[in-house]
Amino acid sequence: MARILDGKAIAKQVKDELRQRVSQLRETGLVPKLVVVLVGDDAASASYVRSKSRAAQDVGIDAEVIQMPANIAEDELIRALERLNEDNTVHAVLVQLPLPAHLDTDRILMHVHPAKDVDGFHPVNIGRYATGTPLLWPCTTAGILEILERSEIPIAGRTAVIVGRSRIVGWPTAQLLLAHNATVIQCHRQTVNLREYTRQADILVAAAGQPSLIGPDDVKVGATVIDVGINRVGGHLVGDVDFAAVEEKAGAITPVPGGVGPLTVAMLMKNTVHLAEIHQR
Ligand code: GUN
Repeated sequence: MARILDGKAIAKQVKDELRQRVSQLRETGLVPKLVVVLVGDDAASASYVRSKSRAAQDVGIDAEVIQMPANIAEDELIRALERLNEDNTVHAVLVQLPLPAHLDTDRILMHVHPAKDVDGFHPVNIGRYATGTPLLWPCTTAGILEILERSEIPIAGRTAVIVGRSRIVGWPTAQLLLAHNATVIQCHRQTVNLREYTRQADILVAAAGQPSLIGPDDVKVGATVIDVGINRVGGHLVGDVDFAAVEEKAGAITPVPGGVGPLTVAMLMKNTVHLAEIHQR
């Protein structure tokens, strides 16, 4: 049976450490501040934003949520972001995705100042991690690294297979594992014979958003399986991995819920504190 990688427990460790760093900053008069911009009334997004606010409060970060109507004009949203860029009390800005369809996500994300881009989605920050000088890594990707490192799962020289190539998770995670000297295979919707690749993985990251995508026949004995999927099926949350079956074959596995999810939120806090510390220097 696989070792269960307890994301909740690891996230708690991260937040305990952050509380220390935040209180040190507060002693110097600096209160780290995160602003989350939420456009529209998508229920899942609203629920993620609430858990981000709770986590911020938990570690002593000042969090503000700016709620914008679903039909906001692109230029109005950009003007709001520019005001946040100029506000010296704000260290970190996050635009909750997905945005309503009439908004050009790429254009919007260009207007979060790179030094406040807590998600790491601005082209400057993508360029920085692509060239080996990351300011920070996107939160979920950073959370995956935190799980692997704190569980003492080696990365260098291992074969890592990432299923998914999204801006938020798949693509940056491939870059991160490559930067940590894994041999990386990136699979996606048009990959032919997915199983041929996933079965080679020492570290398998499932980030496709498709329930039961990964079953026991897709996994090598003893592999580490990181399940990033959050899918609502019949009223509860499941990942992209058939947990009960894969648990029998993998060496280590993250559950859903309680795996990567809590780390994503904890790493948002860690990235916020990092940006606040840099701002102070
Ligand atoms: N929506 C789902 N995950 C994320 C994330 O990590 N950042 C942002 N901004 N939106 C998301």
